[in-house]
Amino acid sequence: MRSRAVLLRAAACLTALVLASGLRAQTTSADWPVYGGSDDHTHYTRLDQISPSNVRQLQVAWTFATGDEFAGSEMQANPVVIDGTLYATTPKLQVFALDAATGRQLWRFDPNNGRPPTSRFRHRGVVVTGDRVIFNYRNRLYALDRRTGVPIKSFGDSGWIDLRAGLGRPVEGLSVSASTPGVVFEDLFIIGSTVPEALPSAPGDIRAYDVRTGALRWSFHTIPHPGEFGYETWPADAWQIAGGANAWSGVTLDATRGMVFAATGSASFDFYGANRLGDDLFANTVLALDARTRKRIWHFQGLHHDLWDRDFPAAPALVTVMRDGKRVDAVAQITKTGHVYLFERTRGTPLFPIEERPMPAAILPGERSSATQPFPILPPPFARQSLTEEDLTQRTPEAHAAALKTFRAFNTGHPFSTPDLKGTIIFPGVDGGGEWGGPAFDPATGLLYVNSNEMAWLLKLVPRSDRSLFAANCASCHGDDRKGTAGGPSLIDVISRRSRDEILKVIREGTGRMPAFGAAIDGGAINDIVNYLVTGRDASVGTVGTSPYALPYRTAFFDIFVDHEGYPGIRPPWGTLNAIDLNAGSIRWSIPFGEYPKLTAQGVTGTGTDNYGGAIVTENGLLIIAATTYDNKIRAFDKRTGALLWEAQLPAAGNATPSTYMVNGRQYIVIACGGGKNGAPSGGTYVAFALPQSSR
Ligand code: HEC
Repeated sequence: MRSRAVLLRAAACLTALVLASGLRAQTTSADWPVYGGSDDHTHYTRLDQISPSNVRQLQVAWTFATGDEFAGSEMQANPVVIDGTLYATTPKLQVFALDAATGRQLWRFDPNNGRPPTSRFRHRGVVVTGDRVIFNYRNRLYALDRRTGVPIKSFGDSGWIDLRAGLGRPVEGLSVSASTPGVVFEDLFIIGSTVPEALPSAPGDIRAYDVRTGALRWSFHTIPHPGEFGYETWPADAWQIAGGANAWSGVTLDATRGMVFAATGSASFDFYGANRLGDDLFANTVLALDARTRKRIWHFQGLHHDLWDRDFPAAPALVTVMRDGKRVDAVAQITKTGHVYLFERTRGTPLFPIEERPMPAAILPGERSSATQPFPILPPPFARQSLTEEDLTQRTPEAHAAALKTFRAFNTGHPFSTPDLKGTIIFPGVDGGGEWGGPAFDPATGLLYVNSNEMAWLLKLVPRSDRSLFAANCASCHGDDRKGTAGGPSLIDVISRRSRDEILKVIREGTGRMPAFGAAIDGGAINDIVNYLVTGRDASVGTVGTSPYALPYRTAFFDIFVDHEGYPGIRPPWGTLNAIDLNAGSIRWSIPFGEYPKLTAQGVTGTGTDNYGGAIVTENGLLIIAATTYDNKIRAFDKRTGALLWEAQLPAAGNATPSTYMVNGRQYIVIACGGGKNGAPSGGTYVAFALPQSSR
C-alpha cells in the first residue's frame, strides 16, 4: 500500500513539474520508492531535468564512503529514496539512511554488532514501507524503525524473523538468505530467497509475511509437496531433500491485478541431477501467482532438469506492447542464454512462438537430461549461441594458442552438452547473457534494454571422494587444495581472518550461498574440519561415511574460460548493451559495452567486458548504466541509437543499478560502487551526480 501511495504522490509532483514546464521548478520532489524504481521492474523514469542536451554537464553532487569494503567484498544495492532520505546497504551488510540531497548519514544499523562479517555478501538493497525498513541479513529478516534504524521489537520475536523457519525442515540444517529485496502488497511482504547450489540446500519457497508482525501468511512450494501440481516432476522424496528452485533475483508486482511474478533458479546440486530426475518444476520457471492467496495462475519452465546453472537471472519485467494495433500488458523475461520470452500477462500465453528443440543425451551414469528444451523464435538472441575454434580469441598469437589448448581439452560440441569428467565449455555462460541487473523498458517505444555478458565458462566434474570430510563436503566449492573456486573463496590461512568460533559458526549455519552443515555433519566431525583448516592436519581421512546428500560426482573446476593472461578466451564482444524491440521482435541496436583499461591503453578498444547491474531509461531519451566490471565507468547513452552522450569515472565498478530521484527541485543519479566481481578491486562508496546549480 505504502509504495503505491508514494508512487501516486510522486506522479502528482511530476504533473506539477510538467505543468510548470519552462519555469524552474523549485520545490518538486520525486522518489525512487522501491528496488528498481517501481514494482514492475522496468527501471523507467519521467524525471526530465537531466536530458540528452545537458547530460554532459553532470557533476558529482556528493559521495558517501561506507568505509566497509574488504578484500573481495561486493555492494550491489539499488538505493531506495523516499521523501529526501536514501536507504541502502554497505559491503558488510550494514543498513544506513542518508540525506539524499547531501549524502550526510542520518543513521546506521549493524546487524553484526561490530564483529567482522563471516562472509562476503551479495545484497541488492532494502524495502521501505510505512514506518519501517525491511532488510535481510543472512537468515534474519529485520524490520527497522525508518527514522532511527532501531529494530522494531513487535516484528518477529525481537525485531527480526528467521528465514529458515517454516520450510518444513529442521532449521539447523538450513542456510537461507535473500540477496534481493521483496515487494509489499497490501499488508503482505513477499520475498524469494538465496540458498546453496550444492546439497545440503534448502527449498526455494516464495513467501509472504505480515508486514507488521512478521507472521508467515503463505508459502508457495517451488519444490512441490505430495499432492501439489508438479510433484511428479521430481523423485518422490525430493520435497524433503532437494533444494534450490529459488527466486533469488526478486519478485515483481502487478498491484492492480493482485498478481506477483517470480523467475526461479536451478535445483541444487547445479551440475549433476541423478537424485532429481524429471523436469524439476518449478525450477527455472516464470511463475505468476495470486498475491493474496499464493495460488498459481500460470507458469512457464524455461529449462527442464537444468544441469548448467542456467537460472533465470532476473525477476520478470512487466511491460506493455503493441499487438495488431492494440496495447497488450505482458511479462518480459530475460535469460542467461541470451533470450527474451514475452507472455501475455494474465494467462501467460506466449506473444512470440516458443519451440522445443532436441537436446543431447546425458553422459554421466545415472543422469537423464531432458530430450528437448524450449526456445523463443523471436526476438533473436542478444548473445552468441555457439562456440567453434573460429570464435576463439585472436588478441595475440599466444592468447590464441592458450585458448585453443583449453578449447581442445574440453567438450564443446553443443551449448547443452551435459557436464562430465572430461570437462565442458558452457556457452552462453553461467553468468549470462542476462544477469541480475535485469532489463529496463521504455513504454513509449516498446524497447527493452538488456546488458549482457559474453563469457564462456569451464566446468569439470570428478568422482566425489570420501577420502576426508573436507574432500567430501567442502572441496567442490573451496577446492581440493583449499585455494578456492568460483563457487567459494580460498580457505588458506582463514584463521588469520576469523576466530575459531566464527569458522565453526559459518560451517554450522552456512552463509546463504554456503550450505549449513550443522545437521548433516555432527559436532565432533565439524571440529575435525576446523582443526584441519587451522592446522592443515586432517584427522578425518578415511573415516567418512555416506550422507543422504552424497552424490557420486562433484565440481572439480568451474570458472570463466580465459587465456594465459586472464582475458576472455573467446573473440570480443565480451559484453554488450542491447535495445530489443518487443513490438517487432527484433534487435534495434547492440553495442560492445565496457573496456579493459590495460587493453584500451594498448589501443585495443570496444572489446566489451563482463558487466553486472542494470540500466535505467528516462522518458526524455537517456539510457543510464554503470555495471562494467573493469573500467569503473557510469555512462549515459542516447536511448534511440546507443550513441554515448556522457561518461564519468567511479571509485570502483558500479556493479549495481542506479537510482534517480528529485529533492528540492534537483534531480540526482546515484550509484553504488562496490566492485569485487571476477577479481576486480572492491569499493564501498555511493556517488551521486546532478547538474551544476547554475545550469538548471
Ligand atoms: C556450495 C558451495 C560451498 C560449499 C559446499 C562449502 N562452502 Fe564454505 N563458503 C562458500 C562461499 C560462497 C563462501 C563465502 C561466503 C558467501 O559468499 O556466502 C564460503 C565461506 C566459508 C568460510 C569463511 C571464509 C572466510 O574467509 O571468511 C569458511 C570458513 C568456509 N566457507 C568453510 C567451509 C567448509 C569447512 C565447508 C565444508 C564443510 C564448506 N565451506 C563448504 C561456499 C561453499
